[in-house]
Amino acid sequence: MIAIENISKIFKTKSGTVVGVDNVSLTIEKGEIYGIVGYSGAGKSTLIRCINVLERPTTGKVIIDGVDLLSLSDKALRQERQSIGMIFQGFYLVSSKTVFDNIAFALKAAGMEKRKRKERVLELLELVGLSDKVDHYPAQLSGGQKQRVSIARALANNPKVLLCDEATSALDPSTTKSILKLLKKINQELGITIVIITHEMEVVKEICDRCAVMQDGKVIEEGQSYDIFAEPTKPLTKQFIKSVLDFELPQKLVEACTGTLVQLQFRGNLASEAVVSDMLQKHKVSGNILHGKVEYIKETPLGIFIMELNGEQSEIDGAIRYLEDRIQQVEVIQ
Ligand SMILES: Nc1ncnc2c1ncn2[C@@H]1O[C@H](COP(=O)(O)OP(=O)(O)O)[C@@H](O)[C@H]1O
Ligand SMILES: [Mg+2]
Repeated sequence: MIAIENISKIFKTKSGTVVGVDNVSLTIEKGEIYGIVGYSGAGKSTLIRCINVLERPTTGKVIIDGVDLLSLSDKALRQERQSIGMIFQGFYLVSSKTVFDNIAFALKAAGMEKRKRKERVLELLELVGLSDKVDHYPAQLSGGQKQRVSIARALANNPKVLLCDEATSALDPSTTKSILKLLKKINQELGITIVIITHEMEVVKEICDRCAVMQDGKVIEEGQSYDIFAEPTKPLTKQFIKSVLDFELPQKLVEACTGTLVQLQFRGNLASEAVVSDMLQKHKVSGNILHGKVEYIKETPLGIFIMELNGEQSEIDGAIRYLEDRIQQVEVIQ
């Protein structure tokens, strides 16, 4: 439903030109939660701002539900933007307005009459779990509550897309989780397509169906989040994944090992113990689990185990072949 075609954005500055986004093409499906990951300066914000044409790309096309946004008149573009909500790391609430007025303002701007506005604001506050804060001012709210208000405001005019630029980056881990849970609910219950920019792989792990990794203005890797976690190909992607799935063994432990170290990756179903115990029964090796971790990538498990195998080399080779036939990824690490 969102098609970004060969988007580039080149900034002209006093000291020369800066490439913000470099020939990016992406398709984001209706109802999907899509993550865009990268370090600071990778071009994420510039790209997401091109989606609602807050930034006009130097070249390329942005097509939402068949409408080519860059070909629209200013008036038609303003109208089309109503269907795209956006939230930011810094919330951008108006500090002199109450929670109610911060949200009602968006409805007023869209021309909704007063009585309807009140009804809608209360409905939105209920959705984001802030019904008791209707008359509070932003300064009286926590970071998580402020972000909830900005989500309510972004959803006020029933958008079909919600763009989130580092929406959880200023929040602590448990508040981040609660905001991600709210975004998931909004996606599931209202069917809103969500595009999330983040430098935190945890965010992708929690809620993104698919994701893209950006570096130097380019998308360097893209796919189902699960596949990216299970089998990252680019060094930068591997680095991001490591922040969540870190499984480096302590050097001392590695040095003390006399046998063969194998790393096993289990995807989807975790019938891991059965495979490992069968392997131990069928081959004359002893196995010692040194490390095990299971992460859930948007509810689907991904497990990593490191085992030390001891025994005759031919038995160990046989055991490894047995595992290779049954497990997605088996790697001899020492
Ligand atoms: N308005 C601007 N003028 C000049 N350069 C910009 C502007 N906006 C962004 N850039 C540059 O574009 C690149 C990408 O920035 P940005 O999209 O903000 O990255 P990210 O959101 O991934 O941190 C950076 O090198 C940044 O300095
Ligand atoms: Mg940014």
